[in-house]
Parts: sequence; structure tokens; C-alpha cells
Amino acid sequence: MNDVIRYLRDQQDRFVDELCEFVAIPSVSAQSKHRADLQRAADWLVSHCRELGLKTKLHRTAGHPIVVATTRSVRSRKKPHFLVYGHYDVQPAEPFELWDTPPFEPTIRGDSLIGRGASDNKGQHFAHLKAVEAYRATQTELPCDVTFVIEGEEEVGSESLGTFLEKHRKDFDVEGVVVSDNGMPSLRHPALTYGLRGVVAFEVHLTGPDRDLHSGIYGGAVDNPAMVLCQLLASLRRADGRIAVPGFYDGIEPLRRFEREQLNRYPESEAALKRQLGVKALFGERGYSAVEQRAARPTLEINGLTSGYQGEGSKTIVPSTASAKVTCRLVPAQKPIHVLRVIKRFLTERCPKSVRLKFEPGHAGEAYCVSPTGSHAQAAMRALKQAFGRPPILMREGGSIPIVTDFKKILGVDTLLLGLGLPDDKVHSPNEKMSLTAFHRGTEMSAHLWDELARTSAR
Ligand code: BES
Ligand code: ZN
Repeated sequence: MNDVIRYLRDQQDRFVDELCEFVAIPSVSAQSKHRADLQRAADWLVSHCRELGLKTKLHRTAGHPIVVATTRSVRSRKKPHFLVYGHYDVQPAEPFELWDTPPFEPTIRGDSLIGRGASDNKGQHFAHLKAVEAYRATQTELPCDVTFVIEGEEEVGSESLGTFLEKHRKDFDVEGVVVSDNGMPSLRHPALTYGLRGVVAFEVHLTGPDRDLHSGIYGGAVDNPAMVLCQLLASLRRADGRIAVPGFYDGIEPLRRFEREQLNRYPESEAALKRQLGVKALFGERGYSAVEQRAARPTLEINGLTSGYQGEGSKTIVPSTASAKVTCRLVPAQKPIHVLRVIKRFLTERCPKSVRLKFEPGHAGEAYCVSPTGSHAQAAMRALKQAFGRPPILMREGGSIPIVTDFKKILGVDTLLLGLGLPDDKVHSPNEKMSLTAFHRGTEMSAHLWDELARTSAR
């Protein structure tokens, strides 16, 4: 193990150069103009994994390709086998003008590698690849077999990966899954995450007159889809932060006392949060702390609003259409289909006859929550402690990685969520960065993890 750790420390600068190369590829899965860049990112990974000596295959899908790379060989002894999941696709970088440096020209500033996708998720899964490299380069036997599955559709709902897992289930006879695609409260608080929120997306389209109208000639006699959309959307949430849709909270268990205590040990003050986010006041469902609201309560968020004239100056019109993109975050026991159904009914019932409403469901994934007491979880806690030099904390997080519930349903195994992101990484925002310290510690954590997991393996 000493050789492995020494190698990881010696090679840090080269690792960062390689990561910069990877981050420079604008693999934005939401935008079709980047299709070739997704292919390029996948190809880059394939050749990188092959250089590490991994048996690597690029799988085409209806969407973006999936990279599978494994340390397993026909000759390999029956070692405990784990799957490491990551995604090479990134969120759109817009609005470009708010970036201090161009999003796909990775820049090192102090401890930060700045660029779209640096933390979410290229830097995080790359850390695991480097740990495997270190074992191989130092001819240290890797105590587990590791199969990497790195997809290109996570940021748009992982549609191809579920089917892929079903089809190739026999290649993934793993004891568990390891994912670093989330966060930790600080470098002094490494964390094992045992719960994530689910998500369900939909769009609402309203159509009024068959073209934009002169608002002076027609305004007042014809309804305004933008106004109706605002009224409808506003009716979804009450002033106390509760979602007003009957049935939205169906099935949810109240937060238990021990869990509230656990969650609120999270070492972040609400004042610090306000400062970090640049808001004068926080807002959330009454009766819950910010950390509870973010990790363990469901929400409904407008992600995008479109209607009327957005260009320079003014234009006096009644717009013909208005639309909104909305997502809800879900907690355990909330079924995405049910949530969609009750919201659709709520909106349809309230929509006036003066406009037409189209409700378009989008991607969905259930929440994930497991007990962090098993032997794998304990092994992961020890690996975190060795790499970060501090006892790790347990937490639930508000983001979603919908494929994690598929790992459970399809492969029958739990996922260890070992986030390397920090609260100020600005994931999905301008100036996203990855902490280089978190990255390097992450490589060491991964190296320790295989050792710890092999010790506690079920075999
Ligand atoms: N890495 C995030 C998920 C995440 C972030 C988990 C922070 C925990 C803490 C992931 O890349 C992501 O953004 N997922 C999407 C999923 C959605 C598009 C289905 C999300 O949460 O919005
Ligand atoms: Zn993301």
C-alpha cells in the first residue's frame, strides 16, 4: 500500500494535466450540437483506460456511448468485484458571460481546477481511475476487481444505462457499487452519503392566440399565456413553503428524531449558507432546518421560464405561448408517476379555457436511502479516514443520481456514495471547480477502499 500511495503523490502533477485534457472536451449532453464532443470524451476515456491496461469497451446506445473498463480477466482469481460508476457528460455552461475563465479551457487557480464538469463529474471518477493505475504501475496486486461504468447521459436522466445494465447484467455480478458524484461538507469532514433525493421532471406549455398580438389592440380582451402560466405555477406552492398539490406528500414518512439529529450535525450554519449563495434570507418549508429541507424534504422548482419577447428594448405584445420547465425533488416512498399524475391534474383543473395546456412528463428517478451500518459502509468509512485524516460523517444529500436505484433493482446491490465535491464547487453554475486537494485525497481514498473492502468482503 505504501508504494501505491507514494506513486499517487509522486504523479499528482501529471494527473492534473490529464484531468485538464478531459475537462477541455465540452461534453454537454443536453445540447445536440455537442453530440460529437460526447463521442470524443468517451473515446478519450477508452484510450485512457486502455493505457492503464484495463479491458475496455465502448458500447453504443440510442443516446450517448457507455464506457466499460475492467481489471477483470479470465485468468483473474475470484476477487471481490465492485462497480465504479461515473459520468463524462456535463451540464450546459451557459451563461458563458458569467465565467471568469472559459468553461472548457480548464484553469488552475490556487487549489482549484476551474472548468465545466471538473467536479461534476470528471474529476471525481478520474480519481478512482488513478487509484487503479497506481496499483498496476507499482505492481501491487489490486485486492478487488473493479469494473468502471462511465456513461454520457447522467445529466439528462440516464435513459440508456438502465436498459444497458439489464442486458449486460452478467458482466456486473458485483458485491457493491461505488460512486463519487456528490459532496462532502469540507475537507475536514469527509463523508459517506447514505441517501439521495429522487427527481421527476416535466414541462408545461400554454398556448393562447395563434400568433403574438399587438397588446394595445387586443390586450384586455384575450388572455395572456405568460400571465396564466405565472398564476398556475404560483399556485403550486404555498407561502409557508409547502407544495399545494393534494397528494404530493402521499406516503412520505415523517423525519424521525434520530435522523433529524444526525442531519443537523452537518457543520454548516445558515448564515454561512446565505453568504455562500449571495442571498439575504433563506426560504423553505416551515418547520424544517435548511439541511433537512435540502436533503430530506421534497420540493418543486421552476428550472426555466419562456415566453414573449426577450430581446433588447421593449415589444408590446400578448405572447402566443408560454412554457416552463419544472422538476420536483423526491424523498423515499414518493413515486414519480404518482407525483406527475397529481400535478398534472392540479394544473389541468385550474387552467382557464382561454388558453390550451400541454403537460409533458420528462425523466424520473426515485429517492435512495440505505442504512449505513453494513460492512462495506464501515470499510468505506475507514478508507475515508485514512485519506482525509479525519473521522467521516454520515449524511443525506439533496441531489439525485437516479441510476443508483437501478443498481439496487437490477444488480441487487447497494451503492457507497463517497463524494469528493465541496460546497463551493459551483456544480451546474458558472465557474465550477474541483478542489485539487479533494481530488488527490480522493485518489488515496480509492486506493485504501479496495484494500478495506477486500478485507470485509462477503467471500
Ligand atoms: N452529481 C450530481 C448529483 C448530486 C449532486 C448528488 C450533489 C448529491 C449532491 C449529478 O450529476 C446531477 O446533477 N444529477 C442530476 C440528475 C437529474 C438530471 C436526473 C440532478 O440532481 O439534478
Ligand atoms: Zn450534475
